[in-house]
Amino acid sequence: MKLADEMMVGTSNILQTCEQPAELTQEDFEDLFGEPSGTFFHECQKLIESLDFRYDILKGPFREEVFLRVLNTLHQDLEVAGKHRKQRWEDGWGENLSQFRSTGYDLAALAPKFVRLQEIIRLRGEYVRPYCDQFESNFVKVLRQWMFKKWFHSIDHIYEFGCGTGHNLIDAAVLFPDRPLYGLDWSQASQVILRLMKEYHGFNIVGREFDMLDPDASFALNPQSGVFTVGAMEQLGNQYHAFLNYILAQRPQVCVHVETLYELYDQSDLFDYVAAKYLEKRKYLRGMLGTLQALEKEGHLQILGTIRTFGSLYHDGYSVVIWKPL
Ligand SMILES: C[S@@+](CC[C@H](N)C(=O)[O-])C[C@H]1O[C@@H](n2cnc3c(N)ncnc32)[C@H](O)[C@@H]1O
Repeated sequence: MKLADEMMVGTSNILQTCEQPAELTQEDFEDLFGEPSGTFFHECQKLIESLDFRYDILKGPFREEVFLRVLNTLHQDLEVAGKHRKQRWEDGWGENLSQFRSTGYDLAALAPKFVRLQEIIRLRGEYVRPYCDQFESNFVKVLRQWMFKKWFHSIDHIYEFGCGTGHNLIDAAVLFPDRPLYGLDWSQASQVILRLMKEYHGFNIVGREFDMLDPDASFALNPQSGVFTVGAMEQLGNQYHAFLNYILAQRPQVCVHVETLYELYDQSDLFDYVAAKYLEKRKYLRGMLGTLQALEKEGHLQILGTIRTFGSLYHDGYSVVIWKPL
């Protein structure tokens, strides 16, 4: 069978190609998150031990086939981010809401459908094929535990902007049952889901309508607050200034953005070049890290860390920047 036949677009039918299967260990995660060896949180260690992080690195012609697939995608008409997509999110979260209801409020129904199972992953400069079809979600589970344990341990109120189904907040609710959680989104379905989460699971959680493109300055964050976003600022393209200014004015203790960060891509490298082009094509977040760095130079904020972890096929959607207003 020809290589092109093996490589069916949208499926995982890519041959396994490396000599030895690789696996992300605790040390690898510590390295990716910039933590000293042997110091990872117990909760993260337990997750790493219990989940399957094995993968094959795609090499030679198999790597080239992935590049070809990515380049072919870049030549297609792709839907761009922006205000016009609001209804798409409403419809998507509406589907999760229906499923949440029909499953008797099973939290598993809140997994976003945009996380594609059995897909190629970008990891440390390589395209890799995970053994487990939940690799992406499992990695995000570790990332979330790390984020909450490391950056939100002494925070009184936790806010996620662009929270979607609120599935990221479930871990926060379990880790910090007494702390008020807030899920903000411009989707009505999101707010209904969060209300049902509170009603049927007893979470200390509130959903509220909020448009990051047109932030409501009258919505005040509580003292000792922490803010995070996951793949939500991505949708703002280069229109992130109003939201950043809103957060700066609210003076939370810490902000953690798990987002694709255009400025981290080294465009002299093909692997990064195609990711940067994907962001340009879809009009995803661009410029935010540069703006944060400029604001830091002017003394408005302090960047506490910038981390590149991994990504799905087209870009590194799970890079992290942590900062706090000064
Ligand atoms: C990729 S999803 C991420 C959702 C969630 N953070 C997660 O990790 O599953 C992007 C989210 O941002 C929300 N969003 C996009 N633009 C927004 C805006 N201008 N204001 C508020 N929410 C927005 C969408 O409704 C959606 O819930």
